[in-house]
Amino acid sequence: MKRLIAEREKARLGGGEKRIEAQHKKGKFTARERVNMLLDEGSFEEYDMFVTHRTTDFGLDKENFLSDGVITGHGTIDGRLVYLFAQDFTVLGGSLSETNALKICKVMDQAMKVGAPFIGINDSGGARIQEGVRSLAGYGSIFQRNVMASGVIPQISAIFGPCAGGAVYSPALTDFVVMVEKTSHMFVTGPKVVKTVTGESISEEDLGGASVHATKSGVTHFVGEDEMEGILLIKKLLSYLPQNNLEEPPQTFCNDPADRLDDKLNSIIPEKPSIPYDIKDIIYSIADNGEFLEVQRQYARNIVVGFVTFNGISTGIVANQPNYLAGCLDIDASRKAARFVRFCDAFNIPLVTLVDVPGFLPGSAQEFDGIITNGAKLLFAYAEATVPKITVILRKAYGGAYIVMSSKMLRGDINYAWPTAEIAVMGPIGAIEVLMNRDLNAIEDLEERAKFVAENAAEYREKFANPYQAAKFGYIDDIIEPRNTRFRIIRALQTLSTKKDQNPPKKHSTIPL
Ligand code: HXC
Repeated sequence: MKRLIAEREKARLGGGEKRIEAQHKKGKFTARERVNMLLDEGSFEEYDMFVTHRTTDFGLDKENFLSDGVITGHGTIDGRLVYLFAQDFTVLGGSLSETNALKICKVMDQAMKVGAPFIGINDSGGARIQEGVRSLAGYGSIFQRNVMASGVIPQISAIFGPCAGGAVYSPALTDFVVMVEKTSHMFVTGPKVVKTVTGESISEEDLGGASVHATKSGVTHFVGEDEMEGILLIKKLLSYLPQNNLEEPPQTFCNDPADRLDDKLNSIIPEKPSIPYDIKDIIYSIADNGEFLEVQRQYARNIVVGFVTFNGISTGIVANQPNYLAGCLDIDASRKAARFVRFCDAFNIPLVTLVDVPGFLPGSAQEFDGIITNGAKLLFAYAEATVPKITVILRKAYGGAYIVMSSKMLRGDINYAWPTAEIAVMGPIGAIEVLMNRDLNAIEDLEERAKFVAENAAEYREKFANPYQAAKFGYIDDIIEPRNTRFRIIRALQTLSTKKDQNPPKKHSTIPL
């Protein structure tokens, strides 16, 4: 017993007091502190605490720590089982050794067998240099498991320190990445290599800090101000997710009345079609208790995605944002939403799509970067999804973008429109300029031209800028009063809760990547 207690104590100290102190000085918690913060008190069951590495080169025979730089095991979060690893930076910089990888793979395999979410807390100098190919192979084994687990159990990566080189690919293969301000860094090649190869001088923060990945690359889905906030985000996220792809998402108790009306929604759409508004006001209004966990909040802000509950039913929201780029679909927005739709579909989370989209973003930059292939991703994701799909067209639903945004033709289950909906091939002005091109060219006076366009646009608007044409042909199922949207969505979700739909058997689709 004495030996056991002493050995456990030794393992708990990781790389020793000094290095723990250094970790704290950087504003970072240790691996064990993080595990304790994340899991329910007393629920952690650790695996392989007594594992040590097997390397003697480069003085490693003297640097051999119990647990070998990674803490692994399982525990519960809000009473629900999760498996996890947390890299211990105090042991050889949390670098990944052969034995370290074996420990991680063991818990990943268990998580898959049991069907429980897997969480990785990354804080590491990457492959353990002294072990060469053995540590690289360790990464390979983890990557393979990440891919096999994809779509089977939810996988979440927290980046609470450095995550560099090929090591970034494990988080990249998982479903959600959480970073924290200032102490998280992710890059394939660090500032020194960048300088050597390209001559560019750039800091760690500017190359791979949380704000870069939140705004520019879209690599991270959530950013916490500090580790505590990062951990709370993981807990919140898990509350919307099922344990695995064979389970339904958790159904929580809801004290917000399902039939709550919100009169303000009846006048939320501005009189003028060109005036923007904040789509999030509508999401907050219709969701249970105004709660919305937004995913990739700062990236591709022209589309808003995230989780809400409707009468306790966990639901994915996809919504165009008129407040940013007029809510156009561009490459980043299409990729962002496609990934989210596929995640929800893989994990049986129904989708509610709120549409106000003037079309795809025009321009050579978008065309050259492949808006065709990338826009097709979102179209593909919606068409492939078999979860309940509810669509509400709030205002504009023009052209291809109308079809993409969970239209009836893409197996939308229930498609509603507000009376303010405009469903057409394009906006009135653009349409008149194409249709009456010859008449317009004959008018030289600019004022006269504008008057002509306005007059004819009014006729076009009368015919197409409303939901009645689409309703007449059955492309929408009903025109609803905006203030009643929450109730109609909840009733639709309840109706669709036993929905069964499937795609033809295949090895996998060939989604345009
Ligand atoms: C072995 C490592 C290590 C590594 C850090 N250490 N990285 N040991 N292998 N990869 C050790 C250090 O020697 C040191 O040991 C301790 O960890 C803390 O490191 P410091 O440098 O003192 O810490 P800090 O100043 O905070 O800098 C952290 C760092 C830096 C930015 C991560 O250590 C660093 O640049 N490391 C190398 C990063 C890297 O290039 N890794 C390979 C990436 S390629 P002591 O004994 O002093 O505590 C890769 C390929 C993966 O990972 C391929 C997958 C397919």
